[in-house]
Amino acid sequence: MRRAIVRGTGHYLPERVVENTWFEDKLDTSDEWIRTRTGIERRHFAADDQRTSDLGIHAAQAALANAGITAGQIDAVIVATSTPDLTFPSVATMVQAGIGMRSGFAYDVQAVCAGFIYALANADAMIRAGLADRILLIGAETFSRIMDWTDRSTCVLFGDGAGAVVLEAADGAGDSSDRGILATDLNSDGQYRDLLYVDGGVASTGTAGHLRMQGNLVFRHAVEKLADTAHRALDKAGLAPQEVDWLVPHQANLRIIEATARRMQLPMEKVVLTVADHGNTSAASIPLAMSVANSEGRFQSGDILVAEAIGGGLAWGSVVLRW
Ligand code: UT7
Repeated sequence: MRRAIVRGTGHYLPERVVENTWFEDKLDTSDEWIRTRTGIERRHFAADDQRTSDLGIHAAQAALANAGITAGQIDAVIVATSTPDLTFPSVATMVQAGIGMRSGFAYDVQAVCAGFIYALANADAMIRAGLADRILLIGAETFSRIMDWTDRSTCVLFGDGAGAVVLEAADGAGDSSDRGILATDLNSDGQYRDLLYVDGGVASTGTAGHLRMQGNLVFRHAVEKLADTAHRALDKAGLAPQEVDWLVPHQANLRIIEATARRMQLPMEKVVLTVADHGNTSAASIPLAMSVANSEGRFQSGDILVAEAIGGGLAWGSVVLRW
């Protein structure tokens, strides 16, 4: 059976680091509130002339170097983003050009914070169907461009960045001992559109708009739905929660991550945490966390990883893979 295994990872964070205290003289907020309610201590913001594709290209080059392959050996590029440079063409085609890849195909996936999970499921299905042998998957975002800087309940939460993963086809036995993606679980429920959305767009206002969120309601959905989707994906893979070596969660809020780990009965030592340094980077958050942990040598070959995310839509899901 064909499996999609991780061959390499990479990431890029813009140079500018903004500490929580930066917001204190601009808004009625404090470092203490942000830390205790979210676990966020700082985030990176892209420079004025840096676009989402620029972040994606840096992360892509790092992942190719880590995988030890060239752009010419990639069949497809998928970028998960909700903050594209332009309405079209896709960020993925811009990354394709940026890394010097002249063949294959490239497209974007938009499922907001769950975007990288959707992209992983997409790439896994294509690899298993034989449509591609190697796919470069990127989560890249510049959420600083859609913040309302007068809204303390959102603008302190998000950051910019990009992470990338190279997936490659490999033969497996077709059971849970295989390396690579073992199961995926995708969900959405459009009736919750007003909980987390951007109040602008091409066909409505003709502007990019600003992010709006009813944070406490999203929080409740997150705590309930993330452990559920992770358990479903583990069931599909034929694995028990006790067999999980690493949870690589969407990095939105430390309290959500802790609640999910508790519901999965996982100790926090098994959870990859980058939320303190990155804030919420939406679709970039999981590949960033995965790449940071991999660059620190934390994953051993054969480890079981569970990645999960929820965001605007609502859209949520999870992926189980063996490193
Ligand atoms: O990535 C997509 C998925 N998104 C998420 O997962 C985000 C989910 N939501 C959250 O992480 C949390 O709900 C927040 C961090 C956004 C908010 O934390 P909370 O504990 O749910 O707070 P809250 O919204 O219930 O607000 C509590 C209080 C309010 O004041 P009152 O009404 O009690 O007087 C807010 O106005 O905290 C106030 N508040 C702030 N205070 C200081 C909200 N933002 C701030 C702030 N600084 N930045």
